Amino acid sequence: MYHKHIGEINMGTIYDGLEEIGPHFELSETHKMVRQSVREFAEKEIAPYVKEWDQAHEFHKPILKKMAEQGILGISLPVKYGGGGLDYISLAIACEELERIDTSMRVILSVHNGLCSSTIFQWGNKEQKEKYLPKLATGEVIGTFGLTEPAAGSDPAGIKSRCRKEGDEWVINGEKMWISYTNSSDVFLIFAYEEDVKHKGMRAFIVERAFGGVTTGNIEHKMGVRAGETGWIHLDEVRVPSENLLGEPEEGFKIAMSSLDWGRYTVGAGAVGGAKASLEAAVAYANERETFGKKIGQHQFIQGMIADMVADIEAAELLVWKAGWVKNQGKINTRETSLSKWYATNAAVRCADRAIQIHGAYGFCDDYPVARYYRNVRGATIYEGSNEIQKIIQARYALGYFKDKPLRCMPPKYDPEEWMNPDTDKY
Ligand code: CAA
Repeated sequence: MYHKHIGEINMGTIYDGLEEIGPHFELSETHKMVRQSVREFAEKEIAPYVKEWDQAHEFHKPILKKMAEQGILGISLPVKYGGGGLDYISLAIACEELERIDTSMRVILSVHNGLCSSTIFQWGNKEQKEKYLPKLATGEVIGTFGLTEPAAGSDPAGIKSRCRKEGDEWVINGEKMWISYTNSSDVFLIFAYEEDVKHKGMRAFIVERAFGGVTTGNIEHKMGVRAGETGWIHLDEVRVPSENLLGEPEEGFKIAMSSLDWGRYTVGAGAVGGAKASLEAAVAYANERETFGKKIGQHQFIQGMIADMVADIEAAELLVWKAGWVKNQGKINTRETSLSKWYATNAAVRCADRAIQIHGAYGFCDDYPVARYYRNVRGATIYEGSNEIQKIIQARYALGYFKDKPLRCMPPKYDPEEWMNPDTDKY
């Protein structure tokens, strides 16, 4: 036992045991169970069919019901709201395991759990949470998020959608583009300007398709995520009851940005799974294919690529877990989430690229899954904030140009006892 003093810290008394020292890199038994159960689900319900869905550019909608039955669609919401009561690292593991099989399935969690449900959980009032979260958590309704527009992606403050107040209703007009799962969604978080005041003139709404005036469609001929939906939303005089304004009127832009802290987290976590899939495929091929009289895994150029993949994956996963750890504390996590998304999605592209190289000509066709992995992971360096935007975010923090401000509604801290308690009134 040490009895050395460093400042005020008495090293001899502060730790009861190694457990307390942390940070901890071992997943808990619950996390391991989540990994096992989502993996078994994805390998049974998605893996055997996904090549066919990808080639047909088809979203197999019944998978939503199966994911709901498995508890995946509400995994990190409190039991009180119909969720699984698990923490945000469990959400990351679920994303990772889904994307290990196909990115399209992880994207469901990004928009439904991440951008939509978690944002309502963070910013919604009691009535909004009670009305929408149980239906979202159980998959009775599917949710997505509409910020991006044909002429505003990296700069969401430049959106053109407009809203106006008429009596007890808001009326919204606008176009949203590059939005995942629009055709399958019933609930949309929509952002529109009431006043031409940058940021503060933007409002956030919970819009139901049933309100009328909402039309959706799919974007065809995508490079990847072909087994999923990517689409557009047209809002034509959509009448939204005033109780569906999310947050205070002037908080619209902040709500949009904080939603991305949820979405980007799931994208980064998924990318780890995509990278792992590439490594698994590369290792299997390197141990099977022979050139110059030996397995290609015994050639040093191949070993170098495998080793680079291992390093990329481990670093990406640690960044995601760190972001999840900050989220579990209920702290603002924009910097950590953005960093993990940036690093992990680039890592996934590098890993898929190396996996193709290791497969040689076979990597260039659909006989092996690595071409699909590459097509799938490439998009995540663009969506939910291009990786150039993530670099800007990192540089702004490092240079002191941007500082976090406390939010009226902070990201909900994970509290296992309260989240498992169906009668809690804490959330
Ligand atoms: N959480 C809460 N508030 C935040 C925030 C965050 N993460 N980030 C910024 N804010 C606040 C700021 O504190 C500031 O508040 P004050 O007015 O009180 O000072 C306000 O928001 C404005 O902040 P900025 O000046 O930083 O805003 P900006 O206009 O310069 O934008 C940006 C900064 C980082 C470039 C941002 O525009 C950005 O992230 N761009 C990328 C957008 C993106 O990721 N789009 C993809 C959407 S995904 C989609 O729609 C498709 C789908 O299917 C999911």
